Amino acid sequence: MTEDPRLGTTLAGYRIESLIGRGGMGTVYLAEHLGLQRKVALKVMSADLAGDARFRERFVRESRLAASIEDPNIVPIHEAGESDGVLFIAMRYVRGTDLERLLQDHGPLGPDRTVAILSQVASALDAAHEEGLIHRDIKPANILLAPGGATHPDKVYLSDFGLTKRASSDSGLTATGQFVGTLDYAAPEQFEGGALTPQTDVYSLGCVLFECLTGRAPFPRDREAAVLHAHLMEPPPKVTDARPDLPAGIDAVVARAMEKHLRTAFPRPATSPRRPGPRCARRRNRRPAPTRRGVVGSPSRRLVDSSP
Ligand SMILES: Nc1ncnc2c1ncn2[C@@H]1O[C@H](COP(=O)(O)OP(=O)(O)OP(=O)(O)O)[C@@H](O)[C@H]1O
Ligand SMILES: [Mg+2]
Repeated sequence: MTEDPRLGTTLAGYRIESLIGRGGMGTVYLAEHLGLQRKVALKVMSADLAGDARFRERFVRESRLAASIEDPNIVPIHEAGESDGVLFIAMRYVRGTDLERLLQDHGPLGPDRTVAILSQVASALDAAHEEGLIHRDIKPANILLAPGGATHPDKVYLSDFGLTKRASSDSGLTATGQFVGTLDYAAPEQFEGGALTPQTDVYSLGCVLFECLTGRAPFPRDREAAVLHAHLMEPPPKVTDARPDLPAGIDAVVARAMEKHLRTAFPRPATSPRRPGPRCARRRNRRPAPTRRGVVGSPSRRLVDSSP
């Protein structure tokens, strides 16, 4: 395998030391901020995205918003910007693993560990939704896990807010109407082209909950079209079909998170019980909007900087 040519080079004041991993949108490196001598995870977006004007525009907007949210379960963003035409985002280096790898290595998790992990993700989403930021790509790979304390084995950091290839569009679709990325956790409105709301993230979180407990995505199908159809038309699967040892109440939790009719144009019948909104929706607007952190340097180069 040829060595990554970025290794050993410096980008925007960060020396790139080693490869952490590659995703659908770019490459994540362990890097050191030379000025602060601080280790960071440096995500370098792929060249095709850097050339997509709508993606760049949203990248700037969403990175600023994400950097302004201080939450113990959201990966702190130190800086996002562009250097020599390369879009990058520098964030806290989370030493550990991610939920996708954990599930691959260990298979399904027990209910206690699942709840301990996903309640931290839900808390991060609450904070983001309160500030009007929708994640758009809740999936196990974006849930980073560091070793926790004695009571919680996992300390969760949610990453990649707004950072999806779909970010060049306001809906879940690209400009050419295609869906990009995994379909496994996507809410119906993300391929229907509907407006995305906090409930979009809650739907995806329901999918992740299902996978944590069963070890498989909610609608495993051979063809992508069949996965898409299932998200649109099929009822949420039951965890207890795969895990009869678990209480039936868990099926209701998944079903509620993955409810489809909430996002359709059809109103609920007047006789149906009032559904309390997700915690995130109920708490929205309780806190005043945060002040933005400093945007330093030339706007085209230093888009966001929250360094001290
Ligand atoms: N802040 C971080 N600290 C440590 N490791 C990270 C950090 N951010 C990402 N990683 C790791 O880098 C690898 C690549 O992440 P990346 O986000 O690029 O991939 P992905 O989530 O699979 O795809 P996508 O491009 O859709 O986000 C993963 O193994 C992930 O765990
Ligand atoms: Mg990611």
